[in-house]
Amino acid sequence: MKKYPIIAISLVSCLTFIGCFPTPRPNPLANAPTYPIKPSVLYDTVQSYCLDCHNADKMKGNLDLTRIVEGNLNDHPRIWQDVFHSLKHKDMPPMDEGVKLPDEQTYQAVNFWLAQRFEQNVQNSGNTDNQQLDNPIESE
Ligand code: HEC
Repeated sequence: MKKYPIIAISLVSCLTFIGCFPTPRPNPLANAPTYPIKPSVLYDTVQSYCLDCHNADKMKGNLDLTRIVEGNLNDHPRIWQDVFHSLKHKDMPPMDEGVKLPDEQTYQAVNFWLAQRFEQNVQNSGNTDNQQLDNPIESE
């Protein structure tokens, strides 16, 4: 009888402990074909508008895009998902920093390029949840 509280306490602390680990974000391109970034509108946009801050020296937002932009989307799917998110909401480049911003056409083209690839994968994975198709990023 006296053992139960101990088991209960161990169980609770064990669950609390597990709860302290952040659950890893699912790979949004898990079943996707390989998507090279170069050449693409994403590549050009990152070259022109992002690398001044997101390089190995400045590391703004703790993010260096210089090397990974030369690779495939699939190499760092979560980073590119964040990039997609930041461009979709026009959070990046920051408007208040006095840096040049992409024009509307560029935002749209790069969003389209990324949406096509991330949404395609949602379809490939057999997930036909409508909300996810409409909005693959926010519904993760
Ligand atoms: C003037 C400097 C500057 C430029 C240019 C810039 N960023 Fe950032 N970026 C930051 C800073 C500062 C942060 C961290 C603070 C924050 O999140 O606002 C950040 C954070 C980020 C993050 C991680 C956090 C988040 O908001 O999701 C991503 C992704 C990102 N930037 C993408 C980009 C992309 C893509 C471009 C080019 C289109 C870009 N940035 C251009 C300064 C910059």
